[in-house]
Amino acid sequence: MRVGVLTGGGDCPGLNGVIRALVRRGTQEYGYQFTGFRDGWRGPLEGDTIPLDVPAVRGILPRGGTILGTSRTNPLAQAASEDGRSGVQRIKDNLASLGVDALVAIGGEDTLGVAAALHAEGVAVVGVPKTIDNDLGATDYTFGFDTAVNIAMEAIDRLHTTAESHHRALIVEVMGRNAGWIALHAGMAGGANVILIPENPFSMDRVCEYVESRFETRYAPIVVVAEGARPIEEDLSLLDQRLDAFGHVRLGGIGQLLEGEIEKRTGKEARCTVLGHIQRGGTPTAFDRVLATRFGIHAIDAVHDGVFGVMVALQGTQITRVPIADATSQLKLVPAERYAEAEVFFG
Ligand code: F6P
Repeated sequence: MRVGVLTGGGDCPGLNGVIRALVRRGTQEYGYQFTGFRDGWRGPLEGDTIPLDVPAVRGILPRGGTILGTSRTNPLAQAASEDGRSGVQRIKDNLASLGVDALVAIGGEDTLGVAAALHAEGVAVVGVPKTIDNDLGATDYTFGFDTAVNIAMEAIDRLHTTAESHHRALIVEVMGRNAGWIALHAGMAGGANVILIPENPFSMDRVCEYVESRFETRYAPIVVVAEGARPIEEDLSLLDQRLDAFGHVRLGGIGQLLEGEIEKRTGKEARCTVLGHIQRGGTPTAFDRVLATRFGIHAIDAVHDGVFGVMVALQGTQITRVPIADATSQLKLVPAERYAEAEVFFG
């Protein structure tokens, strides 16, 4: 049995832990051989591979990023067709010529959406959920999220001292795409003055009231804003509308908008820090290393059991198997009651 492995979409701490666990378990327990595909779906689309065996995965558990490389290549897009063959057909042809019997696709909503489509076309695929955004349905957590939250929390802790020393409002923009999980967890853990998430459009006036009240207590405000959060005031819009291969708008700019509006409306100095890709970089936390390792073990067990079209998931403390389509059909957003818990500490 030869198993292909790829990592797609944004990189994420813990990807190497999954790869290591797949290869170690698969080689030691089942005698499998592995083919690494470079740069997400681009690898199987173009037949671009790298050797993947036990020596190749030694020492990679603490390393961020992915030894396989990644990309946002979309084989379902029209642009993936070549010589009259669709992207899906090109992948099927390459898997056949490389002797790859099964594929493990490690990725988020987009990568797993392609995995589900390939499975419907008869490809033996198992999915492993990854994203710092933690927005995949059917799994309680994705690895990478805990690391991103801890990085953001540490940044907030550091910004507290400089905010107080300079009597400034500091805005911290975090990632998360259309879900507010990173902002919610990092903001709660870091004692934010207010947390703004995409699920709850915010009032700029209300944010400024929170900022003013924090200044009155001589304690400088920290505003944590998710990149996808938006004000209810329609005239305060953002400019960047570029799309990626899966049609997602490139997010960003809300922190800058808040900076300008807070200064204008409160007369206090406001500064924005955009954490950006720092949240995805560096070594994974212990939680993410363990989750990634468990996902890898259970994914190769699914291959061994001949159960395809499934994604491994964390439900409670158990690793389970769920249809890939379930994970990608609905985004997991922050429920109102979770946001209400954080609101206790606003202002
Ligand atoms: O999905 C992970 C993520 O980091 C999002 O939080 C963010 O919106 C997006 O990827 C950024 O993508 P890129 O690295 O392509 O700019």
